[in-house]
Formats: sequence, structure tokens, C-alpha cells
Amino acid sequence: MDPLNASPSAEALLDAPGAPVVVLDDVQLAFDEKVVLRRVSFTLLRGHTTIILGASGSGKSTILKILTGLLPSDGGAVWVNGARVDQLSEQELMPVRGDLGMIFQEGALFDSLTVRENVGYKLYEELHVPIDEADRRVEEVLGFIGLAEHIDKMPSELSGGQRRRVAIARAMAFRPKIMLYDEATTGLDPITATTVDDEIIKLRDLESVSSIVVTHQLRDAFYVAERMAVRDPDGRVRIVPADPEKVRQTAFIMLKDGLICFEGDADALRASTDPYLRTFLS
Ligand SMILES: Nc1ncnc2c1ncn2[C@@H]1O[C@H](COP(=O)(O)OP(=O)(O)O)[C@@H](O)[C@H]1O
Ligand SMILES: [Mg+2]
Repeated sequence: MDPLNASPSAEALLDAPGAPVVVLDDVQLAFDEKVVLRRVSFTLLRGHTTIILGASGSGKSTILKILTGLLPSDGGAVWVNGARVDQLSEQELMPVRGDLGMIFQEGALFDSLTVRENVGYKLYEELHVPIDEADRRVEEVLGFIGLAEHIDKMPSELSGGQRRRVAIARAMAFRPKIMLYDEATTGLDPITATTVDDEIIKLRDLESVSSIVVTHQLRDAFYVAERMAVRDPDGRVRIVPADPEKVRQTAFIMLKDGLICFEGDADALRASTDPYLRTFLS
């Protein structure tokens, strides 16, 4: 047997549960003399979640922009799915971005397009997917997030929470294996925010999506970390308290002064006695 073929390919290794899908190593960034990220390092494993916490202006969105290649860092290394995104050309970034679903805070829907057209926009307009295949995928993702009956509505006919969920469906349409959520629940009341959190949990647990969740809402952060989605034999999906193993698959990191001042799971965050963290938590 050819020993080279006996070993798994790099791609297969990256698909394995627990493989590192996003790695930031000593990333630095300043805007003129304002240092935003001093030294930021963390690793997201396949199927796991990293929740980035931090005050407004601490660099949370900046981290997401760096790892999508939208913003060049000043130093350090950034890997997504094994590719050094900080060294790739725009052209080379395309396949990397294809595996990243992004929910940006300002990522509004197109007001003049229906829910179907919003969710399928890229499928219909850019990727030249056959129309019935695109329709099927749009219906599937809207079914997944429970908004199938709203497919022909305009965004203005939906509630704020429903619009955020449609934005999630739009990002899901290309089956990205990594989802980035930038303040996906900001501005929503707690009950509505939970409906968005539930979609984040379902994608993670039912579709094995790896997630980076940026938020300054601790309630949502703990909810995502401490719940899990299960599918009953009849196909019904329930959100239930997560088992301890699952809870440990969500890492919290807290940014402060360009550094990660805390990294650990939900239990460690709750137990922390660090004065800054205590202020943030209370
Ligand atoms: N394009 C830019 N030019 C200059 N300063 C920026 C730019 N983008 C972000 N900043 C600054 O970098 C800091 C971090 O921003 P950001 O990552 O958006 O914070 P967060 O998402 O944690 O609220 C802020 O002080 C912000 O003003
Ligand atoms: Mg931000």
C-alpha cells in the first residue's frame, strides 16, 4: 500500500471533530497610533464555539474582520481551515470566505426583496445554481429556522427577531461550516433574542457548524453555552440544558486593552474572581 495514500489528507484532518478550524496567533492591529489588538491568540475547534466578550470598542468586530480577510492585521498569523488568510490574495480568499457565514450587526436585509429573494440572493444572482435547486435550498433553510410560512413576505412585514433569523438563513444558504455572529441579538428584547440564540445552537448541534459569537450580552452568551439542540425521533427539535461535555465545547474569551484577559468555559467565567470580570458579569 502506498504510505502516502494511507494517511488522511489535510482536508480530511480539518473535517475531523476537534480539528482547529480558526487559529489566531499573536495577532496585532493598530489604527494609526491607536492600538486595538496587542496580542490576540485563540483557537476554534471544529464544532465548537468561541464567544468573544468585551466592552464596546474592545476590538471584537475587528477580530472578525481580520479572520475573514476584510482587514489586514499588522502582525501575527491567522488560519481559517488551514489557510493563512493574512497571506492570501483577494482571489485566494474566495474559497475561504465560501466556508464562512457572516452575520454582521449592520448586515441588513434588502428591503425591496422578499424573504425568499433575500435568502437566495447569491444562489440566484451569483452562483448560477439551477433555479429549482436554489428554491429547494431556500425553502430548506427557512424551514430550518422555522420561518417557511413567511417566504413571500417583505422584510418590513417581519419582526426584528424574524429579520435577524432570515439573515442567519441567508448566511446558511451556502452551507458554511463556520459561522460568525457579530452582536446578532443586540437591540432585541430577551425573549426575541432567545429565538435567535436557538438558531445559533441548532446550527452548531444539528449541522456541526463551528461558531464565533461576538456579544456584549452575557445572558445570550451563557444561554448559547449552556443549552443544546436535540432532534426527537419524530423530527421535532428541542433546546435543552447542555450536558457538561457540551458546555466545555464553548470557550469564552474576554478582550481588554487589546489582550485576552480571560479564557475559559462558562463555569470558569462564573467562578472568576477577577475584579474586571466581576464588574462585567454583574
Ligand atoms: N476602520 C477603522 N479606522 C479607525 N479606527 C477603527 C476602525 N475600525 C475600528 N476602529 C476602532 O477600533 C476599536 C475597536 O473597534 P471594534 O472592533 O469595532 O470594537 P467592538 O466591536 O469591540 O465594539 C474602536 O476604538 C474603533 O473605534
Ligand atoms: Mg462591534
